Amino acid sequence: MFVWLARLSCLLIVLGSFVLSQRRDPLEYIQILESAERVKTLQVERVIHALNVEPGQRIADLGAGSGLFSRPLANLVGLDGVVYAIDIDSDLLEHVKETAMEQNLTNVQTVLASEQDPRIPDGVDLVLICDTLHQIGDPSTYLRGLTRYLRPSARIAVIDYENDWPRRFESAKFTVDDLDKWMTDAGLKREEKFDFLEDNFFVIYRYVPESSAR
Ligand SMILES: C[S@@+](CC[C@H](N)C(=O)[O-])C[C@H]1O[C@@H](n2cnc3c(N)ncnc32)[C@H](O)[C@@H]1O
Repeated sequence: MFVWLARLSCLLIVLGSFVLSQRRDPLEYIQILESAERVKTLQVERVIHALNVEPGQRIADLGAGSGLFSRPLANLVGLDGVVYAIDIDSDLLEHVKETAMEQNLTNVQTVLASEQDPRIPDGVDLVLICDTLHQIGDPSTYLRGLTRYLRPSARIAVIDYENDWPRRFESAKFTVDDLDKWMTDAGLKREEKFDFLEDNFFVIYRYVPESSAR
């Protein structure tokens, strides 16, 4: 019995340290997400401009990370609009909250999502999913579920890897053709595809629910 318990506790210690070693350091991750090189490569300002956001809109920044896109989007929608910064990582959401407060952006609302459900508090006009869809298991099912948070004619913008797919997510690799199919199945039509990002694709889809497509 004693030997059995000692073995079990060894196993738990090994498992525990494995889980801890897999957890990323939030500060390090924020530095990576906000590095000057990434901001330049992702052409954040140009992406934001291309999204054609209007004052008063409700936007979900899905997989908001450090809030790199949430903050400038909040500036554009203004006080009549809202940006839901959505993530499964509460440490990152804390950072988004703090930086939004520093910049007086009272219209940024953080939302702790589950892996399968973004839990958006209200219907939105635009969902931005930047460098995140590849981290979501079963994107096709996820996107179908996401439509219940879309207002009529809402858009979903997806930016993800085209070159240099991250090795950790090799098995989740997908192409724009895959994305087109998932979006069509979810009731969205491709509206625009931008080619100005060197390493990523950037596609915008519009929600055309079946009843209004006829
Ligand atoms: C590479 S970061 C991108 C952050 C931000 N969109 C950007 O481009 O700077 C991916 C983010 O997606 C989040 N994420 C992963 N799976 C998610 C899910 N199922 N729902 C919401 N967020 C998720 C991660 O925690 C991480 O913050």
